[in-house]
Amino acid sequence: MERTLILIKPDGVKRRLVGEIIKRFEKKGMRILGMKMLMLSKGKAEKHYAVHKGKPFYNDLVNYITSGPIIAVLLEGNRCIEVTRQMCGSTDGSKAQPGTIRGDYSLSIEKNIIHASDSKESFEYEYPIFFSNEEILGFEYGDEMNII
Ligand code: CMP
Repeated sequence: MERTLILIKPDGVKRRLVGEIIKRFEKKGMRILGMKMLMLSKGKAEKHYAVHKGKPFYNDLVNYITSGPIIAVLLEGNRCIEVTRQMCGSTDGSKAQPGTIRGDYSLSIEKNIIHASDSKESFEYEYPIFFSNEEILGFEYGDEMNII
């Protein structure tokens, strides 16, 4: 079963959208294997966004993601990397389709509510920045015990 990482960024937290966003992934049928609220250190933010180092927006990106609390969530589900990216919508909220998270709640490419791993390789690189293996909790949901 595939896994992915999402981060609810400081604008999502400060706009009280945490429940609304997590609800969408729960209702889609994904399993929550880990979840935490944290202030990201500059070092971890630079590591997480290392692929963007050197781009004109890199410094603003690091400053922004470290400007307030974020929520990190580790999700599991069938093809969940691609499904999660679809549910987030285009990176630029002003271009994202209505019905997606960014399409419904963002008009900006900088303050675009949520980050999601874009590939298996990205997930494998990103998730250890936020979760140790002991913090990933495998358990059975009630509706999985008899039905699935
Ligand atoms: P995220 O999914 O967190 O991954 C990298 C982030 O960089 C992206 O969301 C945007 O918030 C930001 N980003 C990407 N492209 C640009 C850009 N051209 N200008 C400013 N910010 C950008």
